[in-house]
Order: sequence, then C-alpha cells, then structure tokens
Amino acid sequence: MAHIAVVLAAGKGTRMRSALPKVLHEVAGRPMLAWVLDAVAATGPQRTIVVVGHGGDQVMASLPPGVEACVQEPQGGTGHAVEVALAHVGDGDEDVVVVPGDVPLLREDTLAALAQGGEAAATILTAVLGDPTGYGRVVRGEDGQVKAVVEQTDADAETLAIAEVNVGMYRFRRADLAEALAGIGVDNAQGEKYLTDVVGWLVAHDRPVEAVEADPVETMGVNDHVGLARAGRVRRRWILERWMGDGVAVDDPETTYVDAGVTLAPGVRLHPGVHLKGDTRVEAGAEIGPDSYLEDTVVESGAKIWYSVVRGARVGPDVQVGPYASLRPGTVLARGAKAGTFVEMKNTTVAEGAKVPHLSYLGDAAVGERANVGAGTITCNYDGYDKYRTEIGADAFIGSDTMLVAPVTIGEAAVTGAGSVITRDVAPGALAVERSPQREIPGYAARRAARKATHEAED
Ligand code: UD1
Ligand code: CA
Repeated sequence: MAHIAVVLAAGKGTRMRSALPKVLHEVAGRPMLAWVLDAVAATGPQRTIVVVGHGGDQVMASLPPGVEACVQEPQGGTGHAVEVALAHVGDGDEDVVVVPGDVPLLREDTLAALAQGGEAAATILTAVLGDPTGYGRVVRGEDGQVKAVVEQTDADAETLAIAEVNVGMYRFRRADLAEALAGIGVDNAQGEKYLTDVVGWLVAHDRPVEAVEADPVETMGVNDHVGLARAGRVRRRWILERWMGDGVAVDDPETTYVDAGVTLAPGVRLHPGVHLKGDTRVEAGAEIGPDSYLEDTVVESGAKIWYSVVRGARVGPDVQVGPYASLRPGTVLARGAKAGTFVEMKNTTVAEGAKVPHLSYLGDAAVGERANVGAGTITCNYDGYDKYRTEIGADAFIGSDTMLVAPVTIGEAAVTGAGSVITRDVAPGALAVERSPQREIPGYAARRAARKATHEAED
C-alpha cells in the first residue's frame, strides 16, 4: 500500500532549555530531523509532511526539497498534529506513517518494515524498556492483543508497571485514522488530543491494532541534552563502524568524532582525539592525529596531519601539517609541501615542495615551488583597514624573522636576510636585507665585570 509520511515536530522541546527548536539540535553533525527525514525518504512515501510549530520558520528553512511543512498553531497534542497534517494533505487513501522528529537513531529498515503495512487498521512500534518512565504504556489483553496506549500522566499503578512502551511511530489506514481522530476527545490529564487514543478507539470499534516490537536504542526519543549526547555517541559509533568496515583504521573509536558528511578512503588512519567535521574528505593512506580538528577540508593521499586545526583547506598528497598548525579557509598546500610547528595560514597557497616549517603567519599569500620560508616569518597583510597580498616566487629563500609588509612580491630565487622588514618588491635572484649593521665592542664583558666588582666594594 502506498503511504504518506507525517513527521511531528511542532512541540517545544522544553527540556532542551534552548532557543533552537529541539529537532534542529545536532547528532553527529546533522540536525535530528535530517536523520529522521533520511529514514522516512528511504520508505518511498508519496508525500512527506513535517508538522511545525515552535520555531517553525527555522524548521521549515532546514527542510530538503520535496518535503512539505504544515503549521500546527497552537499545539493541541499529537492527535491534533496529525489532524492538521491530514487537512494539509487533502483527500486520498494512502496509508499514513507517523514518526516523531526527535528519533535520530531510527534505521531505514525498521521504518520501511512498518510502512509496508499489513492487514490491521493500525500498526504501532513498541519497545520494552528497563525504565519505562515517561512513555505511554502498551496495554495488552489476556489474549496478548493490544487494547490501548495509556500515557504516563493518565496511568494507574498497575499500568505504570508495564515495561512495553509506545515509541511514537505508527502506520494507519487513512480512513480509520480520520474516523478515530474525529471520535476521540481531549479528556485526559493534559487536555490534549492524543494520537495514542486512536489505538484504544480502533480496538473498541473492532478494528484490531498490531504491535511490532523494535530495538529500544534506535527508537529512543531525545528530550534533553543527556539524551542528545547519548544519541550522538551511538550515531558516531555506527558511522565509525561503517568506515572501519570499509578499511579505515580507527585507533580509538571512543575519542574519534567523524560527522555524517565526512568521506574516508580505505587505508586512512585516524589516531586518537580526531574530529572530522562538515564536508571533509580524506584520501587513501593519509594519517590524521593524534588530536586534530578538521572541518570542510580535503586531505589527499599520503598526507600527515598531527595536533592541528584545519578548516576550509586543501592538503595535497604527501603534505605534512603540524604539530600545532592552524590552517584557515582558503589554504591550499600542493604535493609534498609543509606547514610545520606553530604555523598559521589563511587564504594562502603553498606550491609543490615548498616548506614553511616553523613559527610563521602567512595570510593572503602565495608561496612558489620549493621556496623555503624561515622560522618566524610573518606576512603583514592587514593595515587596519584592508588586506593585501604577498607573493613569494619559486625557489625563494625567506630568512628567519622576515616581516613581509604586503602588498609585496619576492621574485624567483630571491633571498631575504634574517630579521628584515621587507616593504618593497625584491627582484628575482636578488638579496634584500633591511637591518642596521652589527657593531662589535671588544673587551666589553671584562669591563662590565669590573664595574660590578667596584659597586659591590662600595656597598
Ligand atoms: C508521545 C506519546 C507516548 C510515547 C512517546 C514516545 C502521545 C500522546 N504520547 O509522548 O505514548 O511513549 O511520545 O516518545 O502521543 N508534537 C507535535 N504537536 C503537538 C504535540 C507534540 O507536533 O501538539 C510532536 C513533538 O514535537 C514530538 C512528538 O510530537 O516530536 C511527540 O510529542 P511529545 O510531547 O514529545 O510526546 P510525549 O509526551 O513524549
Ligand atoms: Ca517525547
């Protein structure tokens, strides 16, 4: 049976204590709702409708193309939310699959099995929990058939002792759902229209409801930051297990954080303490870490990055980065280049084989092939108002502690003397030195010692 999907995401998420709508909080680098919508899309629904309310504009802005939104205002409960969605959808006879927006661990197969349907008027997913507190309990009759779902706030002691809970995911036959929603009221502790009451209504009207037990981990709903962190840990483990299966070596999965959007090649090695975020891609044979943070960065084969922060950069084949480098957006290192200890770069290209080994800042710069940039070199790229470029030619040798006051160009194979403040272009092959001549005063140490001795004698 064809189906439409309704994702409930209008609730406030009070326990997050956050201005950000609950479903937009991230798990492994993606909003919870994005994970849910992936699982929903895999079931092949005719239409997908997200019910929004609190923070609706933000939630709507996050939706992928093809997913519709409808606004539930005010929020009159989960049953009311589904009514609003059905009104938005209009006529039709597809099944209706309902999923909450806060279940970021939901697996495609589980939801697909639910969406497949069956003969019953409704199928609900359940889980057996060690601690069912807070959930709606699944009440079964002596024959084992589902009788009703009773909310925590409406349950008596006997019902509260039931360990099987409703995880908030359902498949309904459309006509039965609409009829039941029209038939139920708001006579409960919260004065809301509960979607869960549809179950009892259907059973009472001789339309049996099926229950399918699911894995409590993947159906876990996130209500607060403790749950968010727990879900993040599980998702990250799944992501790493997938990459390890593909041949990626992960020394310590417990301290390795790889976001959903990252791509890794077989033969990559991740040392402990690595964070790979955003749209990062690492090619075969590259080694990252220990303790490195990469965001929106491409690392080509054989490169090695350790103890470094790299954002929006491209690290070429066999490049070495770190320890303690900070590469900022627009940095491109070509094959065999080096950005070494305590080196910061921004919007800078370093051509093949060029080295920046120690203690440097290069911003808005281009370094030519095989050039060597000495320790302590700084591009003075900012005059307080604007940024300017520095060009360093191929095979140039920048002496230690050179200040390159941009805009400035150092010609091919040119040399700057250590400690120079370079304010004018240097011709190819030339040496530019800017420093006062060294003076030498003979016998100074002895005279100084004698002066000290005299002072002490006087005291
Ligand atoms: C709901 C179920 C409960 C189940 C639990 C599983 C009901 C009445 N109870 O309880 O049986 O054990 O989920 O997590 O359905 N929402 C709306 N509009 C509303 C109210 C809620 O869109 O008016 C959305 C929320 O944003 C959320 C979902 O529906 O995504 C569930 O709402 P929530 O308030 O968390 O329901 P629970 O009390 O947890
Ligand atoms: Ca909930």
